[in-house]
Amino acid sequence: ENELEVSHILLAWYKTNKRMLPWRESSDPYIIWISEIILQQTRVAQGMDYFYRFTERFPDVASLAAAEEDEVLKYWQGLGYYSRARNLHAAAKSIMDRFGGVFPGEYKEILSLKGIGEYTAAAIVSFVWNKPYPVVDGNVYRVLSRLYAVDTPIDSTQGKKQFAELAALVMNPKYAGTHNQAVMEFGALQCVPQNPDCEVCPLKERCMAYASGNVQAFPVKQNK
Ligand code: ADE
Repeated sequence: ENELEVSHILLAWYKTNKRMLPWRESSDPYIIWISEIILQQTRVAQGMDYFYRFTERFPDVASLAAAEEDEVLKYWQGLGYYSRARNLHAAAKSIMDRFGGVFPGEYKEILSLKGIGEYTAAAIVSFVWNKPYPVVDGNVYRVLSRLYAVDTPIDSTQGKKQFAELAALVMNPKYAGTHNQAVMEFGALQCVPQNPDCEVCPLKERCMAYASGNVQAFPVKQNK
């Protein structure tokens, strides 16, 4: 039905428009984890160098767990939000202790690791194992709020619940991982925060915000 068509359009768009990014070449949950933690508060252009240096020095869970915290922090120097690096280190040790050094495969197990929230857990299980957990980040809020003209504030309890449901509805579970990457990339490159070029958008005929003539009004935030 309609949601499957939206997913299909996003997947087709992604295929021709996606950026080549190093972590997209990997199906190693450790690599996906590191990249998503870096990208949480850092732009792709800045995060790239850090990603290469970090994963070269700490190529797997065991090497990260065995390092001194000071050295892990050294590789994070300049990125800010240093709790990210400390949490990575703590979680790597925890994976050694609790999972014998093997990155866990269950959403709940991954969610139990320090520094990993719903977004990162969903990204890992969907990208690596194609499990049908929708990712919900700022890009997803923007794309979905515009497409369906949802005016519930994204920073409200109700909004978080509503967008998580909508994200699940729009996802084609058969292509969970690629779909998740596609929505985020679509938000990063096409459905951008300021002055999106809606005339070339493959979803413009279905976009309720576009129909209303007020794409800029979405997403709605209460604390702004
Ligand atoms: N931002 C967050 N996750 C990302 C990813 N996997 N690729 C590109 N940008 C991202």
